[in-house]
Amino acid sequence: MELFHNKKEARMNAIFVEDAWRDQGIAKRLIAQLVNQCKHKRIQKLFLLVKETNEDAKALYKKTGFKFEKMHDKIIEDTPVEVWGQAV
Ligand SMILES: CC(C)(COP(=O)(O)OP(=O)(O)OC[C@H]1O[C@@H](n2cnc3c(N)ncnc32)[C@H](O)[C@@H]1OP(=O)(O)O)[C@@H](O)C(=O)NCCC(=O)NCCS
Repeated sequence: MELFHNKKEARMNAIFVEDAWRDQGIAKRLIAQLVNQCKHKRIQKLFLLVKETNEDAKALYKKTGFKFEKMHDKIIEDTPVEVWGQAV
């Protein structure tokens, strides 16, 4: 997971958990830690990009406080991309 700072906003980029370790709450814990880091750094808004078809990731993001905001202005690998965000 990488964190990009732009004043008061940060972007979570490419969260990934190896197949063998999935469905054990690891991604949920990583995101909770990231949200805490953002609070310490006084970041107010966390956002991310997700492919429209990535239902697993979108279920995870819903559970961790993100909401769909809008469609991204670019198509990536032939797939529309969504912008999701949450206030920290
Ligand atoms: C998306 C991903 C990071 C989830 O990692 P994970 O450690 O398995 O997720 P967690 O165990 O923390 O799951 C958290 C929630 O996400 C949802 N979720 C995760 N995997 C799911 C699946 N296969 N099907 C449906 N929902 C799923 C569930 O709602 C789950 O909540 P629950 O535990 O209360 O049921 C993992 O599947 C992954 O690495 N995928 C490939 C990379 C990717 O697509 N990354 C996102 C790029 S935007």
